[in-house]
Amino acid sequence: MKLSKRLTQIEQLVAPGYTHIWDCCCDHGHLGAALLARHSDAQVHFVDIVPSLITELESRLQQHYADLAERWTTHCLDVALLPLEQYSGRQLVIIAGVGGDLIKQFVSIIQQTHIGLTLDFLLCPVHHQFALRQTLIELNLSLKDEALIEENHRFYEIMLVSSESDPGRPISPVGETIWQANSNEQRDVIQRYLQTTLEHYQRMQQGDTADVSHIIEAYRSVID
Ligand SMILES: C[S@@+](CC[C@H](N)C(=O)[O-])C[C@H]1O[C@@H](n2cnc3c(N)ncnc32)[C@H](O)[C@@H]1O
Repeated sequence: MKLSKRLTQIEQLVAPGYTHIWDCCCDHGHLGAALLARHSDAQVHFVDIVPSLITELESRLQQHYADLAERWTTHCLDVALLPLEQYSGRQLVIIAGVGGDLIKQFVSIIQQTHIGLTLDFLLCPVHHQFALRQTLIELNLSLKDEALIEENHRFYEIMLVSSESDPGRPISPVGETIWQANSNEQRDVIQRYLQTTLEHYQRMQQGDTADVSHIIEAYRSVID
């Protein structure tokens, strides 16, 4: 199964060395299956809340990955209830393809219920990137890597963050390296993402329901 551009980028941000990788909100499990093939040291956990998806996925994994059966597990489970404390070694929790508001809740609950456990999170929200970043900052997480991609006329930020006590960089409220282009094509993606984002918050500001002037200022500052 060929991965989409977005899932490929997420997969490429997974460094070697994790003992457990959690593909949360896995749906058909495409990302987890790619990780299973590439990360031969890792146990891959497929997590989704919909029973029929997990039943179907379980039989597809049994069909195609029977030889790796000791390295994958399916869980029909709410992401908020991940049993991370039952596992040891380095753990990566991937949450992609759901709203930033939901990811905020998941990461907050996981952090609260697993105090003392070192976790990395690889996150790719649909919308609400600013609010998600605010929560990650409040949770004292640090940035390991981030990326911006465009797929099917939609923009996606991907953030690799960590609860490690010897951290990487602070998380920026609007992103940092996502605004640095290494090609003309990426420069174009960045410009259009910035314009779309600014227009979104300017419309919100004009709607007079919330004061988002600080968000507009923060995004304007990335081009200063
Ligand atoms: C659009 S799919 C995302 C698939 C894949 N992660 C991606 O990025 O393409 C969203 C999935 O999230 C699952 N989901 C929604 N809320 C969930 C929760 N609380 N716990 C576990 N899975 C959940 C849905 O059942 C659905 O399969």
